[in-house]
Amino acid sequence: MTIRPILLWPDPRLSQVCTPAEDDVSVLIDDMFETMYAAPGRGLAAPQLGVMQRIFVMDELWKTGTPTPMVFINPEITAVSNELITNQEGCLSIPGVLLDIARPLEVTLGWTDLDGAVRSQTFGGFAAACVQHELDHLNGKTTFDRLSPAMRSEKLAEYAS
Ligand code: NI
Repeated sequence: MTIRPILLWPDPRLSQVCTPAEDDVSVLIDDMFETMYAAPGRGLAAPQLGVMQRIFVMDELWKTGTPTPMVFINPEITAVSNELITNQEGCLSIPGVLLDIARPLEVTLGWTDLDGAVRSQTFGGFAAACVQHELDHLNGKTTFDRLSPAMRSEKLAEYAS
């Protein structure tokens, strides 16, 4: 396993829409976990390593001593709650910045796992925000893109200074 460099915003690859995952991604996924744990973070999307494929990994609980690694290949949102919740979100590609982002409280995702099995699950709490954040990366969106224009300008100026 190899720790790979994480792209930092505004690398243009962070604004590109990713294409479906290729067939042999096991080495990539090993490296994604290694890189995520070293960062340290709880979610990482392939484009953050410059790999423009629709894959992300998440481990919600490892920081509490209970590793729960999950691999999401070609994930799609199939349902969202009407109720929104605002969380402070960080991003490994935007170090040192926490942004208040409103997203659906619950989200149902369909995806393929590392064994090729088709999975579906409804997420709440931290995991709901995390999977939506990582899925945004696959669509070329970062947390800056979830802000109002005025707030985006303000936060970009802070980030640049
Ligand atoms: Ni991120």
